[in-house]
Amino acid sequence: MLSGIQPSGDLHLGNYLGAIKNWGSRAEEFDCYYFMADLHTITVRQVPADLRRRTLEQLAQYIACGLDPEKNTLFIQSHVPAHAELGWILNCYTMFGELSRMTQFKDKAAKHADNVNGGLFTYPSLMAADILLYQPDLVPVGHDQKQHVELTRNVAQRFNHIYGDVFKVPEPYIPKTGARVMSLNAPDSKMSKSMPEGCVFLMEKPEDIQRKFKRAITDSDTERCVRYDPEHKPGVANLMSIYSAVTGQSYEQIEAEFDGCGYGQFKPRVGEAVIEHLRPIREEASRILADKAYLESVYKSGAEKASYTANKTLRKVYKKIGLVAR
Ligand code: TRP
Repeated sequence: MLSGIQPSGDLHLGNYLGAIKNWGSRAEEFDCYYFMADLHTITVRQVPADLRRRTLEQLAQYIACGLDPEKNTLFIQSHVPAHAELGWILNCYTMFGELSRMTQFKDKAAKHADNVNGGLFTYPSLMAADILLYQPDLVPVGHDQKQHVELTRNVAQRFNHIYGDVFKVPEPYIPKTGARVMSLNAPDSKMSKSMPEGCVFLMEKPEDIQRKFKRAITDSDTERCVRYDPEHKPGVANLMSIYSAVTGQSYEQIEAEFDGCGYGQFKPRVGEAVIEHLRPIREEASRILADKAYLESVYKSGAEKASYTANKTLRKVYKKIGLVAR
């Protein structure tokens, strides 16, 4: 199993509940690789010092969220040169038309119209390389990345068709529970760092978290009770799914707990539950981040383990396409 997150912003509750929290529990069943996709991040202009800081913070937060570096391979993408190397090769097996159809490219090109660079366009070939190097069965991703995993499958099949079975064709894996945490102040959009008032960051101060929950949009229905009805009460449903994810309670139990309570009582209780759930994560992440020697040992041994696996695939590819062995 393999996945990556770009260190383009601070990790938030959506990344945690939708992805990282579920990854941690898979280490017994799968050989797991998780990385900071720093090479992807530079397709949009970054402040160098911020990129470096966020990459290390992200690693500390992965560990604090329960990804044990003894059981998972945690690494920084740019530390494993095979990603860039296979990325170039796969560029030569990915069609211009395919890349032109990627909705993330169209969205980002519109958003950063002054910097529509080649890397932004060929981003999916690098992502295909990230994945195919490790021959994973499953690639856990959010909905927005499904198209990229599908492109990866097409590229892998095209390559295998020409050269024989080189790549395992991976499956996108979109977890059902907690997969979509919505913005607190716009429950029709996904929680995202681009809308910070509706977004709860893992390292955020408790009072800021509580303020955001108190201001969360509920619904203007007349009933004003806590009932799970995502279609008619999307704001309440989102808060209930967050509450369920951090307390382990079912929707029926939550409805019973808040029977007779208004939204004014419900919202701060969700805020408190989230704060208590995140507290040990925040404390542990700060502790790890302060221990630079430990962090370095994790990303160094992660890169070593990842390189070993990745280079095996890369050597096979080089040979198949006719490059002279080093
Ligand atoms: N493109 C992913 C995102 O923006 C990050 C990513 C890069 C990734 N390479 C990957 C995810 C490989 C899964 C597998 O969220």
